[in-house]
Amino acid sequence: MRMHRKSHLDERLSACGDILTVADLTDKNMKHAAAEREELDFLKLFGNANPVRLEIGCGKGKFVCELAARHPQINFVAVEKISNVLIEAVERAKAENLKNVHFINSAAEVLPRYIKEGTVDKIYLNFSNPLPKLGYAKQRLTHPRFLNMYRTLLKDGGEIVQKTDDGDFYRFSLESFTECGYEILEKCEDLASLADTENIVTEHEKRFSDMGKNIYRIIAKS
Ligand SMILES: C[S@@+](CC[C@H](N)C(=O)[O-])C[C@H]1O[C@@H](n2cnc3c(N)ncnc32)[C@H](O)[C@@H]1O
Repeated sequence: MRMHRKSHLDERLSACGDILTVADLTDKNMKHAAAEREELDFLKLFGNANPVRLEIGCGKGKFVCELAARHPQINFVAVEKISNVLIEAVERAKAENLKNVHFINSAAEVLPRYIKEGTVDKIYLNFSNPLPKLGYAKQRLTHPRFLNMYRTLLKDGGEIVQKTDDGDFYRFSLESFTECGYEILEKCEDLASLADTENIVTEHEKRFSDMGKNIYRIIAKS
């Protein structure tokens, strides 16, 4: 489905420039783009040395905005490749006057360009596209090529929290985490059964839960 480009998108993105980094991907080759260095200075960006957590594929930003409001002593960087979607997240953070969130409009592949090695405490992967078709495994955000890259961004012992409604993707991810030497701290096939009051329900999670689908969660330690 083609998405209608939001009106005045460029102006709206520019108006949020203080909390948004837009990737300059003149070079469409992701490997080259990732090798460039434009590391964000978290101290400057947030004005403090609080821990930093990363959400990859933040969509419209409900999750990261709620989490940031709950935890003002933690900084959050949220990444989303589709600017049309991301604009809603960025404008929401602005409207809520959140000081501890920064956004990057970029593909996950390019993150090493912006994020210094060993600086991230936790990574959230919420309802990443499961990409079930044959030949698409390498694009999944829990493919070993991503998990190995995330490890370079994470501090020693940093964690990845993944939620999905897709059983096959859950099993693929478990294998992938194990193959890459992550320690599985939690594997849950029905998040509702945990009654976790800390859980923040994302846009996709609400939709799938309302449909009666199970929500799977993995917590893995680097
Ligand atoms: C199914 S949506 C989930 C959105 C949100 N996390 C939620 O739970 O409601 C997946 C999001 O990840 C984004 N995404 C997919 N692949 C990505 C990549 N390689 N880099 C950054 N974002 C990506 C998509 O554009 C989409 O907005």
